[in-house]
Amino acid sequence: MRLSRYFLPVLKETPAEAQIVSHRYMLRAGMIKQASAGIYSWLPLGFKVLRKIEQIVHEEQARAGHIPMLMPTLQSADLWRESGRYEDYGEEMLRITDRHGRDMLYGPTNEELITDIFRSNVNSYKDLPLTLYHIQWKFRDEIRPRFGVMRGREFYMKDGYNFDLTKEDALHAYNRHLVSYLRTYERMGLQAIPMRADSGPIGGDDTHEFLVLADTGESEVFYDSAVTDIRLGAREIDYDDKAQCQAVMEEFTSLYARTDETHEEAAFAEVPEDRRRSARGIEVGQIFYFGTKYSEPMGANVVNHEGARVPVHMGSHGIGVSRLVGAIIEASHDDKGIIWPEGVTPFHCGIINLKQGDAEADAACEALYKALEGAGLEPLYDDRNERAGGKFATMDLIGLPWRITVGPRGLKNGVVELTSRRTGESEEMPPEAAIARITEIYAGV
Ligand SMILES: Nc1ncnc2c1ncn2[C@@H]1O[C@H](COP(=O)(O)OP(=O)(O)O)[C@@H](O)[C@H]1O
Ligand SMILES: [Mg+2]
Repeated sequence: MRLSRYFLPVLKETPAEAQIVSHRYMLRAGMIKQASAGIYSWLPLGFKVLRKIEQIVHEEQARAGHIPMLMPTLQSADLWRESGRYEDYGEEMLRITDRHGRDMLYGPTNEELITDIFRSNVNSYKDLPLTLYHIQWKFRDEIRPRFGVMRGREFYMKDGYNFDLTKEDALHAYNRHLVSYLRTYERMGLQAIPMRADSGPIGGDDTHEFLVLADTGESEVFYDSAVTDIRLGAREIDYDDKAQCQAVMEEFTSLYARTDETHEEAAFAEVPEDRRRSARGIEVGQIFYFGTKYSEPMGANVVNHEGARVPVHMGSHGIGVSRLVGAIIEASHDDKGIIWPEGVTPFHCGIINLKQGDAEADAACEALYKALEGAGLEPLYDDRNERAGGKFATMDLIGLPWRITVGPRGLKNGVVELTSRRTGESEEMPPEAAIARITEIYAGV
């Protein structure tokens, strides 16, 4: 992409309404625009990041053996009357009446709809285990939407649902989700810690929330500092291997880590004092096992080995895809702007032409641009007739992790400058070496 042809409405001033850094930078970098309270348009740069995050979620769900589909945003109230949640859900549910006077709602989540799909099509234990998921917009009429995309009213969420014959199988699905989520967040450059949480309106016994530690987080958390040393890394996972998934789950959840809802002073006191931490965190996902809570009232049964009809064991598992855009910025920025991790960056590399219109500099930038595209990467070339200072400020604000700077002086010596956004360190090298370096960096992502 050439910046002269792109749509990047960068703001010079800091918007007064934004209270936290991710919201400020998302507005300033032209990523989003508020459409109404808690509802946003995703402008091209923001949309690109949202898509990258979504893609990682899809890839990791596929790896775990979970099946993608798509359910609508609007749902019939009747299904929610069956589960009893139509009345229970309260004011957060946006209720709509269609022209025939039928009660509809904008889905805040999809347990009812998926359970209906399941019961209409699955009758036998032979079709289990089954995990279906989708990534779709949700609506919750939050009383106080705030912090931009972090607590929106309309937001983009991955929600998955497992159907299993037994509790044991459903707990394996729970563990599989936990492991696949750890991998998902690590690929985004994030550490999200599973913490024992409260089940809220979904209901159920077992649940963990995934929290990214950040001062601006809405949740209060308590943990043993040793949990922050654990990484999944590049280890091989066999998602069909129950014992392995169980072992990873235990590794990540045995140390004390809880949100305020489940925090217990007595249990916390057993953590060595120098490792006791209380902090704030951003909830970027949650997994639940809730047994037959929906299958029983809604009649989602299968025939078991003995020929008896039994309700299936279920769980649901969510990732806040749009919230993650903000959470990543909260975790990775400096006073000049965003610093995207390589896994989610909207463009792989920026190219800055220090002297637009200079025949040699223009030609060198064009050659770099073509070569990077040829290597399967997406560069963003700032080809505008602007002062160098302005170009650097824009690049720093939008946070591409790598930048190649091209100017007549360097070209006299056959070099360009490669700069890391994270460390600020620059290195001069021939253009081919810069291309090779960038290609190598992204080959490992
Ligand atoms: N209002 C919201 N705005 C943005 N993301 C949200 C919002 N509510 C929930 N999410 C995201 O969706 C994920 C799954 O939602 P869920 O656990 O059902 O929500 P909650 O914890 O609010 O009950 C959450 O972990 C969070 O990342
Ligand atoms: Mg939650």
